[in-house]
Amino acid sequence: MMKGFKSLSLAVAMIAIPAVSPLATENTKSVYITIDSDALAFSEKTFGRRVESIETKDGISVLKIDEESIPWLSLLMHRNFNRCGGFMVHDDKEEALEQLDSQDGAQLFAKNNMFADYTINQENLVKPLVNEVKADNILATITKLSSFKNRYYKGEFGKQSATWIKDYWSGLVKNRTDATVEFFPHSQWDQPSVILTLKGASDETIVVGGHQDSINGSFGGATSTAPGADDNASGIATISEVIRILADSSYQPQKTIKFMAYAAEEVGLLGSKEISRSFKQKNVNVIGVMQLDMTNFQGTKDLDIVMMRDYTNDQQNNFVGSIIDRYVPGVKWGFDKCGYGCSDHASWHSQGYPASMPFEAKMNDMNHNIHTARDTLAASNGNANHAAKFAKMAVAYIVELDR
Ligand code: BES
Ligand code: ZN
Repeated sequence: MMKGFKSLSLAVAMIAIPAVSPLATENTKSVYITIDSDALAFSEKTFGRRVESIETKDGISVLKIDEESIPWLSLLMHRNFNRCGGFMVHDDKEEALEQLDSQDGAQLFAKNNMFADYTINQENLVKPLVNEVKADNILATITKLSSFKNRYYKGEFGKQSATWIKDYWSGLVKNRTDATVEFFPHSQWDQPSVILTLKGASDETIVVGGHQDSINGSFGGATSTAPGADDNASGIATISEVIRILADSSYQPQKTIKFMAYAAEEVGLLGSKEISRSFKQKNVNVIGVMQLDMTNFQGTKDLDIVMMRDYTNDQQNNFVGSIIDRYVPGVKWGFDKCGYGCSDHASWHSQGYPASMPFEAKMNDMNHNIHTARDTLAASNGNANHAAKFAKMAVAYIVELDR
């Protein structure tokens, strides 16, 4: 929904971009992004000559913008549209324009196609595993991850935190001969993604992932304070608890299960874009993707888990809802929309894979501390009870999809 001219300028004024903002930098590199067309006028007004509209189709626009403005765009979209006003960053103009054209092909396929048998019939296997979820384990991981000054995709802290995740996950699976943990390196920045594989008999693959990086929207950069406790230490901690439970059990997967901690999500879904592309290129048969990005802030009263409808697969979303009803009793779920490409599920969706994004709250009730130094565990009541619901859901999702 487009907001009025007046309220836009007011909102922009409230942000108070400092005199030394990155916007003032001359001669920075230009990048191409795709963004919801309803944000077009807003972007042009805010960024002036630093943004150029290239083409619009089916409600999506290609913009040329200087790279330094990206963190500002992200921040302003959050504040002014009160929604995840995401966008995708592309390598070049051709790729951005391709995105417009693949809208109707790969993305429609990813939205409507049925990729798996969604019957729920593994209660004997699932129930004991779900009962193993311990909120305190999730709490400990959030505490550790949010103790890095930041997990920014460029710079020392972002590299150190990636190494910590790889070592932690390696420890969780040290007794499994069917598990490997690897870095997925990226050529354009230092922070690697981390991928843990539980190898099953079949090559059909289930992906459960979240982004590991954090960002401070107003003081972006490698030296800023960005604990990212909710966004997204919570998702990585939730995934870690799922890994621990499956690894400690005698569960032998039939399909191949991959857990991912994506690099560089906060600057345009960059890590997941490279990974999902390389999977597509190798024709990996991914039958289900679950994105866990922000799981520990219960912003909406009387609602626990919110399935994002956009850039996700309709059938799998309903399946995840049924999984919650069956295996996480008392937990209420509903639907909302995120906005254009708000997290890594959009990368998989763009490659034609079926993705879901179960989220912690309705968009209107979102955690407003994200992308600031205030995104701490204390802002989620200092416990991980909300995230524990997501860990139960994810364990049940994996096992039911696996058989
Ligand atoms: N975790 C957020 C996405 C989010 C925020 C979803 C609030 C729902 C409510 C994610 O890390 C993020 O910040 N994404 C960016 C988009 C990206 C393309 C830079 C955003 O929303 O601005
Ligand atoms: Zn974020």
